[in-house]
This record gives sequence, C-alpha cells and structure tokens, in this order.
Amino acid sequence: MNVWHALQDNWLVDRKRRYVVAGCAIAFTLFVATLLYQSPNLSQRILSHANPPSIPSTLDQGKASLPEFFDWHTRSQFRPVQQAVENKSVLDLCHAFPTHLLRDIQPVLKTGHAVLETRVGPHLRSASACLDNSLLIFSDVDEDFSGYQIIDVVSDLRSDFVRDNKQLRNYTILKELSDNGTLRPGAGSDINGWQIDKYKFLPQISRVWRMRPEKRWYVFYEDDTYVVWDNVFRLLTNFDPDMPWYFGSPSPGVEGTWMANGGPGYILSREAVRRLVRDDFDAEGVFIGSALSQRWEDEMTGNCCGDSVLGLALYQDAHTSLSGLFPMIQPHPLHGIPFSDRYWCQPVISMHKTFIEDMEGLRRWEESRRQTRRPLLFADLVDYLNLTKVAVREDWVNSEWGGYPPPSDSPAHASFDACGDACKADPNCFQWTYHLRSCVFTPWFRLGQAKAAEVEEWRPPEEKSMQWSSEDKRFMAGWDVEGIKRWMSGKGRDCKTIQWVRPSVERIF
Ligand SMILES: *[C@@H]1O[C@H](CO)[C@@H](O)[C@H](O)[C@H]1NC(C)=O
Ligand SMILES: *[C@@H]1O[C@H](CO)[C@@H](O)[C@H](O)[C@H]1NC(C)=O
Ligand SMILES: *[C@@H]1O[C@H](CO)[C@@H](O)[C@H](O)[C@H]1NC(C)=O
Ligand SMILES: *[C@@H]1O[C@H](CO)[C@@H](O)[C@H](O)[C@H]1NC(C)=O
Repeated sequence: MNVWHALQDNWLVDRKRRYVVAGCAIAFTLFVATLLYQSPNLSQRILSHANPPSIPSTLDQGKASLPEFFDWHTRSQFRPVQQAVENKSVLDLCHAFPTHLLRDIQPVLKTGHAVLETRVGPHLRSASACLDNSLLIFSDVDEDFSGYQIIDVVSDLRSDFVRDNKQLRNYTILKELSDNGTLRPGAGSDINGWQIDKYKFLPQISRVWRMRPEKRWYVFYEDDTYVVWDNVFRLLTNFDPDMPWYFGSPSPGVEGTWMANGGPGYILSREAVRRLVRDDFDAEGVFIGSALSQRWEDEMTGNCCGDSVLGLALYQDAHTSLSGLFPMIQPHPLHGIPFSDRYWCQPVISMHKTFIEDMEGLRRWEESRRQTRRPLLFADLVDYLNLTKVAVREDWVNSEWGGYPPPSDSPAHASFDACGDACKADPNCFQWTYHLRSCVFTPWFRLGQAKAAEVEEWRPPEEKSMQWSSEDKRFMAGWDVEGIKRWMSGKGRDCKTIQWVRPSVERIF
C-alpha cells in the first residue's frame, strides 16, 4: 500500500538513530534467546509447559525446534456446555455463559455513533449478548444505548490536538450536535467514520485501564466481528497475563514490525497494557491524561490506520511484538471462509465482517452444539453453512477471488452444467461459478453470497458492450458436494488433533 511506503520512509528518516539502538537491542535479545533455546532442559520445559516465553515474534528464533501446534486439552467453562435453543430468548441462552471469567477478561467493543442501531444492537443480541456490565463500548459520542453507557474515547485526546486536526473535523461536528441535543440516531452514517476510527485505538487503551485496571486480559473487537468466547477463554488459560502478550492476525506494520489487523480484533495481556499506559499516572497513581495518545499524536495523524499505530506503540513503548494467531484470529467473514487445510482443524476465535444477520443464528447454533473437550473448529462451520448439503445456489457468487478459469477453449464454458462437470473432473476444483458464459473454478470451498444479475463495472469495454441475455448476466454457483465430502474424509481431517497454533508471524492471511 503506497500510504504505507510513504509512511515508512518518513519514519525511517525521523527515527533512524533510534532504530540503530533498537537494532542492537534486538540483536542482543536474539542472541540470548538463541542460547536459551539451545539449552535442552529449557526447551523441554517450554514444550511441556503451556506458557511459552515471550520471544519477539518478528525474530521467531528457535521456532524450528518447536512444534507448530500446542498440544492443549481444553475444557469449555459454559454450563451447560450445550443447550436446546428452540424458543429460548437471547437472555435465556446466557444462563450458560461463564460470567465469572469476565472478572479477569475485559471485553472492549469499538464502534461509532452512526452504526449503534445497525451493528451494536444486533451484536448485543449475538456475540456480545452475555457480557453484561463487564462489556465496555467505546465510540465517538457519549450516549446511552440499550442499557449501556457508550463512551467517546476520542475526547480523551488533547483538546488542542482535536480542535486543530482537520481530519477530526467531522468528529467535532458530531460532538457539537450531541452537545446541543440535535444529534439523531444513525446521524453521520455519511461521514467517513474510518477517518475518526484510527483516533480511538490508543485512547481506548488508556481508558480501559483507567476504568478496569489489572484485568488479566483485554479483548478488543469491532462491531462487525463475531467472537467465539468459548475459544477465547480456552486460549487464554494457557498464557501468563504477566508476560507482554499481543495476540492478533498479523499484517505488515511500520518498518518491519508486525501489527494485529484491527478488524478481527486483538488481545493484550495486562503486562502489555501496563507498559503502554505507564506514563498516564503521576507518582501518586492519579490519572493525568493519556500520555500514550500524546506520544503518538503525529503518527496517528500521518498513518492511515489505528491498528498500525498501536502495533508500533507496542513495539517501541512496550517492547512487545505481535504474537500472530492466524488463522484462529482472522479476517474472513463467516460466509467467506475458504475451507481447506489452512482453515480446518484450528479453533475459530474471530470472524471479521460477518454479516450482522448471520450473527444471531451463529450464536444460537454455537449454543446448541458446543462440546466440552473440543473447541469450535473451522471444520465444524461447514455443517452450519450446509456446504455438504446444497449443490447449487442461484443468483449467488462463491468465487469472488482466488478462482481460476479452465482454458478458454474448454467445453466448461458452454453452460453452468458443463462448468460443473469439468470442475468435478478437476482434482483441484471444489466449486464453480458460471457468469457471462464463462466458468470459474475455485480450489477450496466457501459459501459466498447472494448477488443480483449484472455485467460488473470492472469488465473491459469489449465485454461490457456485448449483448448479454438476462440469463447470461446471472451468477450461478455450484459445489462438488461429493468431492468435498471425499476431501473431508481424508487423513487427519476429522481433527482428532486440534491445531492450537503457536504464535507466529509466518502464518499470515
Ligand atoms: C416452540 O414454540 C412453538 C410455537 O409456540 C411450539 O410449537 C414448540 O413446541 C416449541 N418448542 C419447544 C421445544 O418448546
Ligand atoms: C448544533 O450544532 C450544529 C453543529 O455545530 C449546528 O450546525 C446547529 O446549528 C446547532 N443547533 C442548535 C439548535 O444549536
Ligand atoms: C466529513 O464527512 C464528509 C461526508 O462524508 C466527507 O465528505 C468529508 O471528507 C469528511 N471530512 C473529513 C475531514 O473526514
Ligand atoms: C441450512 O439449512 C437449514 C435447513 O434447510 C436452513 O434452515 C438454514 O438456514 C441453512 N443455513 C444456511 C447458513 O444457509
């Protein structure tokens, strides 16, 4: 991304000197880490204990000697672990939720005024339904919603900084409307919320610590992210919150660092947060403002993205590198997961951009089928999505990306059925889409989504000017259900061995 490169260049010039120092420190850490890992006793201890030491994951030394997956035997804390869901209300279903775990684990939902009704409302009936008053909701306007006090964390930035910042002009307008009592629900849906959003990442960390200090874990997620809490709980019991942990889905950050992609959410241990907010308090422990946010004001303005600023702040202020947990924390929505060995025996922790209308059904299904010893795995979602039951979906697209066409002279392009027959004959093909008299295969299987007939904007002029019948313009999706079942019955795909991935930044989206 060019914004990135521009940024990286600036950053390099400004901080070259600091970099050299950081480089030496890293080299030394690396050296020590390598020594430690080569000690057979210690390796043994690391393998047999669930808490691995915090090695800067950008370096990932010693990785070769460690298995890729933890051999954990986890248990669900939900009681009952599974329940009949028919006719049960959202709150009835919550009786099973292990609320006591929220004494140690702090959920933080980030949103914006414009989408409270459309996103946060449904979230409070699904993935966030059972979090009660443990849940904190951070946003860009102070207001009450659905029994929650929504908190404007942008207002925790220095007031001069906000006033003089052109990028925050729309935030200031929202605030004025709110102050004079004329802010309507849903107002501001036309403003570029993303522009404001990047300014919430750091203040929300200062704010959550101030409100709920010394929780063991802080789980940050977005209003369009489905979170599988059972798996969050299973995961976190295996790590020490007094080590600086930063878990998420790795994306390249500033200058060779890795950041957690903000969408799927990220988890910080209290030690990581403690280090970030250490200057927010005076010697008596009195809060004196988000020093964390003040330190990074220029970076917040110059950087496109709040998750990237946070990754950098963690690296520099907290000496904490990302521990990547892809694919357990990952950016695909439920309907977009491309099932394959990459997304199969691993526990699902989060799914970003999951359709709001999917969340409630997903949660009910989760309640109905949870198992004590087996976390929810990607493989289990196939059942929910009916991917082995439905062979054709009309006005549907399942191959928006990652597909490959059969050769242009192939008979596969003759019709939807011919496309399907050719897919079934191709050992790499699991599903197909037929559209504008052409056939596309996909080397994995996913649900995809409804799509109305059209000739897409991006098509080249010669295709756009052709005479297409209304039938040609439809999107038709097919699945090789038998092929999918055969693949699923392959060796290891019953997931008797669960792949709790070891933190890494080599396994990425
Ligand atoms: C759920 O409600 C429907 C309609 O009231 C009823 O027919 C059905 O028996 C109920 N199911 C259960 C399990 O109570
Ligand atoms: C409220 O604030 C907005 C934004 O500054 C302004 O346009 C509007 O005129 C104000 N309305 C009242 C009633 O003061
Ligand atoms: C404010 O919102 C308007 C309406 O979406 C948008 O056109 C404009 O670019 C935004 N300005 C800033 C500074 O974000
Ligand atoms: C799966 O099939 C069942 C039964 O036909 C249906 O009720 C459900 O909505 C389907 N689920 C999805 C995600 O399509």
